[in-house]
Amino acid sequence: MRIASIVGARPQFIKLAPISQAIKELDNHLEHTIVHTGQHYDPSMSQAIFDGLQIPTPDFNLGVGSASHGAQTGEMIAGLEKILQQQRPDVVLVYGDTNSTLAGALAAVKIGIKVAHLESGLRSFNRQMPEEINRIAADHISDLLLAPTETAMGHLADEGLSGRSVLVGDVMTDVCFQVRDNILDGSPRVPNSSEYPAKYLLATLHRAENTDDPVLLRRWLQALQNLDRDVVLVAHPRLVAKAADAGIEIQCGAVRAIEPLPYHQLVATVLDSDGVITDSGGLQKEAFLLGKLCTTMRRETEWVETLDNSWNVLASQPSELQNLVNRPVPTAHRVPYYGSGDAAEKSVQLLRETFK
Ligand code: UD1
Repeated sequence: MRIASIVGARPQFIKLAPISQAIKELDNHLEHTIVHTGQHYDPSMSQAIFDGLQIPTPDFNLGVGSASHGAQTGEMIAGLEKILQQQRPDVVLVYGDTNSTLAGALAAVKIGIKVAHLESGLRSFNRQMPEEINRIAADHISDLLLAPTETAMGHLADEGLSGRSVLVGDVMTDVCFQVRDNILDGSPRVPNSSEYPAKYLLATLHRAENTDDPVLLRRWLQALQNLDRDVVLVAHPRLVAKAADAGIEIQCGAVRAIEPLPYHQLVATVLDSDGVITDSGGLQKEAFLLGKLCTTMRRETEWVETLDNSWNVLASQPSELQNLVNRPVPTAHRVPYYGSGDAAEKSVQLLRETFK
């Protein structure tokens, strides 16, 4: 049986790691083809993640790169169609909510190849976000919906998709716990961390809704720079590009900017931090899994379970940041909403049973 994974952006490479490992370990009759769309191309966003998590080198790389949404997605569909026509896998697996997810699902379904969507059923209910449209479209055209949480299962049921959905848990838990355990067992931590402030909050900021408007971007960056705590900001290329276009300095005041980190270094940096400030979906969840207080620079979150007992809170505007980051750490236990670390294995087993 042949499975083709379509990935293109950093969070997808991270989810691919436990899936490719499970495919290898579960059954040596399973063939796995990896197609990289090229959406993320900077070495720190792509190669460093593949190397750090020992993900096999992609069999194909479309090299699509940055462009408008339509051009980027269109170019991906055309490239993927050619590869899928030639490869004819039994199922195409798409991950998460990026333009690569949508392109992969559309390219496959249009030529009659079955599609499974991993991390299915997430909803922010904000249709202005490109990711929300990508998720909804991918869920409705896929044949098998692999959901990470009960909440996600509920959303799929509300949209009439129960018949195709299965709760498998979250593959991010698999990879996050594996990497955490290696770090705690003494694997090397962050190379330059001695240059970080002794106590710091870890921040990331990259979402289109926060970075595309220069006025809002300046307000978020100033709110971070004016905090009364030191901030280590891991700067996504989108942030660097948008700040440069708007003539805004990123590193200033409380903020020390660093380049994107390989995954295990990112996890080590979270573990060493006093909390997280982010607009990333993955990092909200990693903070929760690792027991760190998180403040999310958004009006809504798909990962609503992280809001339990205020482990995560939403800062809907920059002026709220200072007070929110200084709230006390909850004493309440965190419920294991995101599974126990076997989501990849369950997902691959389901693919094998459903599409053989
Ligand atoms: C994409 C996803 C987003 C995800 C994020 C994780 C979509 C619509 N968005 O956002 O859901 O949270 O990835 O990182 O798919 N750039 C580079 N080098 C790179 C990658 C990006 O310079 O390697 C810059 C370019 O200026 C580009 C901009 O980032 O124009 C946006 O990149 P794009 O891939 O369109 O989306 P992300 O913002 O990374």
